[in-house]
Amino acid sequence: MKIIETIEEMQSFANQTITEGKHIGIVPTMGYLHDGHMSLVNRARLDNEIVVVSIFVNLAQFSPNEDLSTYPHDLEADKTKCEDSNVDVIFCPNEKEMYPSVPLTWVNVDIITKYLCGINRPNHFKGVTTIVAKLFNIVKPSKSYFGQKDYQQNRVIIKMVEDLNFDVKIITCPIIREKDGLAMSSRNKYLDEKQRKEAVVLNKSLERAKWLIARGETNASKIEFEIKQMINKISGEIDYIEIRNAKNLYKIELIQDDVLIALAVTFDNIRLIDNIIINNKKL
Ligand code: PAF
Repeated sequence: MKIIETIEEMQSFANQTITEGKHIGIVPTMGYLHDGHMSLVNRARLDNEIVVVSIFVNLAQFSPNEDLSTYPHDLEADKTKCEDSNVDVIFCPNEKEMYPSVPLTWVNVDIITKYLCGINRPNHFKGVTTIVAKLFNIVKPSKSYFGQKDYQQNRVIIKMVEDLNFDVKIITCPIIREKDGLAMSSRNKYLDEKQRKEAVVLNKSLERAKWLIARGETNASKIEFEIKQMINKISGEIDYIEIRNAKNLYKIELIQDDVLIALAVTFDNIRLIDNIIINNKKL
């Protein structure tokens, strides 16, 4: 497994790979890899001759009041996990390599970045799309893999790819959960024992919503209210609970077609997100 730290070396490796007729799959990450990330790696391994995992904690997607300084990292453990999963390259540039001077160019997807996570994290998606666009230009992948847990991020990246004609296919992979249903996240490690137990309610409330819809409930506000009642019993503070069209993320009142039920809950400074997609026609 190669460890590449410079853009120049990564681009020349990518050019050489493409010249040899091989395809590159990238799994963009901010490190501290868990089984959720590794499921993306495994999927990329099936689809591509060359798998690149990028590890870069992207300052540009954090607001000043967010958890950048405490964001967990363990590069040595990440290397072992990647090695064990037959990753070909870890691309792990430092801050100066990725942002040698203050950037004046940003990639910004409009409208769908303004709600859900965009309300409390106004510049977050601009930071994400900018770094992902940079990674696509550096790593030159045919396919890129993201987890459904960051559903809004996926829709935003898919729109960026469509609008700017990136020649990259975006693959969205299922949420990987702990045994008790909590969606895997690098941030889970900061939950204390009580919060960790309570956090299970996030998934439980989504499952309850699914059950209500399966039983014929079509009123989105009623379902949001039920979820709210469940989450209000724990110490986490609700950032949002919303039901939206799964494709365009528009708010809906009547449950029909494919719907996204998404929520964000903060325990002290630890912000957890989770979601479920309900395909109404298949219920
Ligand atoms: O999902 C993440 O870990 C990050 O937002 C990403 C896509 C690696 C960009 O920094």
